[in-house]
Amino acid sequence: MSSHFFSYREGRLHASDVALEALAAEVGTPFYCYSADALEHGYRFFAEALSGLPATICYALKANSNQAVIRTFAALGAGADVVSEGELRRALAAGVPAQKIVFAGVGKTGNELAAGLDAGIMQFNVESLSELKLLSEVATARGVTAPVALRVNPDVDAGTLEKITTGRADSKFGIDATQARDFLLANREIPGIRVEGLAVHIGSQLTDVAPYRLAFERLIALYKDLRGAGLPLKRLDFGGGIGIDYRHRVPGLDAADRADHAVSQADARVSAYAEMVRGLIEDPKNGVGDAELVFEPGRLLVGNAGMLVTRVIYVKDNGPRRFVIIDAAMNDLIRPSLYEAWHEIIPLRAPAAGTQLRPVDVVGPVCESTDTFAKQRPLPPVGEGDLLAFSSAGAYSFVMASTYNSRPLPPEILVRGGRHALVRARMDYDTMIGQDRLPDWLEAESPEGSDPSAGLARERRGAA
Ligand code: LLP
Repeated sequence: MSSHFFSYREGRLHASDVALEALAAEVGTPFYCYSADALEHGYRFFAEALSGLPATICYALKANSNQAVIRTFAALGAGADVVSEGELRRALAAGVPAQKIVFAGVGKTGNELAAGLDAGIMQFNVESLSELKLLSEVATARGVTAPVALRVNPDVDAGTLEKITTGRADSKFGIDATQARDFLLANREIPGIRVEGLAVHIGSQLTDVAPYRLAFERLIALYKDLRGAGLPLKRLDFGGGIGIDYRHRVPGLDAADRADHAVSQADARVSAYAEMVRGLIEDPKNGVGDAELVFEPGRLLVGNAGMLVTRVIYVKDNGPRRFVIIDAAMNDLIRPSLYEAWHEIIPLRAPAAGTQLRPVDVVGPVCESTDTFAKQRPLPPVGEGDLLAFSSAGAYSFVMASTYNSRPLPPEILVRGGRHALVRARMDYDTMIGQDRLPDWLEAESPEGSDPSAGLARERRGAA
């Protein structure tokens, strides 16, 4: 099944109905492009799979916090899962109602808790008894009551990458289930706090429903136990973490169709997940038929809806290895360097049928060996000046970008049907370097022979 969020048309790679080559000509490279059609499809599919259940889908902003992306989901009824005051502000600015916002995170500061209270959010996912104490103080001082879900650690191994697993007993996340239970039973009234629910999140990029089932069963057992003891719990938050297919291996399809197919693959996973959840909720033995539900999907909704487009600067043969040096680097997309993550690399011009592939190393310009996107990746012939796209770059990609090597952050474009919009401009050099300030002991004189533009920093300092 092909949905045509990504496709070759007349040999040119398109996102929705927009040729990526045309966007490259307009904004230069590298740039991110997201398909609003794919975003909307992903959200609707998830929402429909859960239809009939009293669920709030709180999109996990950390995956992609561009306000155009957030608003695309908000317009379809989504809430937001935020983990910092910055994300809270982005969610509110993009139009997410406060009553659909959950505030998660293991280290919220007093100021952040206050910002959440002032906004009137739906729920704080509290991760430690110390945080609960601080929230109680902040809320009491404001004369308000904070709605809370305790995030429990279910001690389940999510079977995902070591660096993104969160649900094991040795992880920094959540409160040990027994400790949470004992505390809640011993402290039924906490000033400024209303414990309304329990939450779990066991990790990211999960491709199997079995660990979810185990974690949710444990959460439900605790919920039932505490309700039985008279606690007025009413909400279960099942977190996020549903994985996507980064390796688009489907024989017989071209590279664009394989990227497109990955979107449909996610649908199959969502269906299995939703069926498992529905089974647990509707099972009368579990006694949770009337619980409100919260889901926090991030990657699932945005991952396969985005691509990073880059241009080949040089092709260099060094002994037996061929290096394709591109204008995107680890500062733009860090997942391959940080997690050894795989992103498909798709040429913007469709290779002719039967083109021989040859293994190449695809690397960026940053002065680190780890600035490597792919080693010995079989690709069709690639020449200097050619355009390539990394697929599955909608999640944890732009948001993890930095200006390392003083490379400005790349722009982001959203396409919908045949329309496109620049939803974040490329950072300009003045913005990037102009945030530095000279201390007064260096300010007095410019070093001999220095460029008069060195005065820039001084002028700006005066202007600020
Ligand atoms: N809820 C909580 C409490 C989380 O910690 C996370 C992700 C999510 C929801 C959303 O998870 P998702 O549905 O996107 O898997 N940078 C890594 C992923 C880190 C995920 C952190 N927490 C990567 O690039 O793979």
